[in-house]
Amino acid sequence: MKIAVITGASSGIGAEFVRQLDAAENFDEIWVIARRLERLEEIKASSKVRPLALDLTEQCSFDEYERLLEELDPEIAVLVNASGYGYFRGFLDDPLEKQLDMIELNSKALTAMTYISLKYMKSGSRIYNMGSMSSIQPVPYINVYAATKAYVLSFSRALNVELKHRGIKVMAVCPYWVQTEFFDTAINDDTVNNFGKIYTAKEVVAQALKDMKKGRDVSFCGLNTKLQRLGVKLMPHSLVMKIWCKQQSIK
Ligand SMILES: NC(=O)c1ccc[n+]([C@@H]2O[C@H](COP(=O)([O-])OP(=O)(O)OC[C@H]3O[C@@H](n4cnc5c(N)ncnc54)[C@H](OP(=O)(O)O)[C@@H]3O)[C@@H](O)[C@H]2O)c1
Repeated sequence: MKIAVITGASSGIGAEFVRQLDAAENFDEIWVIARRLERLEEIKASSKVRPLALDLTEQCSFDEYERLLEELDPEIAVLVNASGYGYFRGFLDDPLEKQLDMIELNSKALTAMTYISLKYMKSGSRIYNMGSMSSIQPVPYINVYAATKAYVLSFSRALNVELKHRGIKVMAVCPYWVQTEFFDTAINDDTVNNFGKIYTAKEVVAQALKDMKKGRDVSFCGLNTKLQRLGVKLMPHSLVMKIWCKQQSIK
């Protein structure tokens, strides 16, 4: 049984991965993972959709996922790790539990899902890990979130090298701002308020699928992203952070 596994499938970029992968490829099943079961049950695809309502900050969710894999022994052709969220405020403005929970989901869960899934992957299998533009630079007031995304970029690129001999590809998807429900959670006050260009999930996922075909280990979508990347390469991080704070009118 050939399957795709997509976390964060109940909205935004994860949901768009379901649509575009389903249109591009035949799977026997698409396993969709997030907490909101009702959203997962609404997903329509040409392949059979298996909704798995799992909170990926809970160890029991990984145990359940592993148990299902053991029982059904599928071939995982594609894994998309898109579950994630951010809080945009000063480090000390939110309780420690919130900061740690972000690390738990954005970095730890992505690592666990990848580790568990790899046993069921073969040559030709692909892993898409959701990073961000903040993967490439430190970002004051999006501090912990950006650090979790730096982890995703580093982890994905190094794992891509490690898995080359198995013919498995790993890519970090690093978009600029994307119009999704992400902002409902991320924005808690007006500390971060200047977003400039906002892309659609459709653009970001289409670019990611294209970049995977080209064998890239990172996907950057759109001109703004590419210009930002160039700027970060040319300038010291201290200056990049100064510019960012100025854009947000943070003194
Ligand atoms: N939007 C942006 O500007 C942007 C930019 C760069 C990178 N990203 C990254 O892209 C990824 C997708 O974000 P998005 O923009 O599509 O945001 P989104 O629409 O808010 O989607 C986030 C997904 O994560 C799931 N999720 C949240 N907490 C979870 C938990 N504890 N366990 C399992 N699933 C959980 C949510 O589903 P439930 O609530 O149903 O659990 C939802 O499906 C994230 O990793 C985000 O950091 C977003």
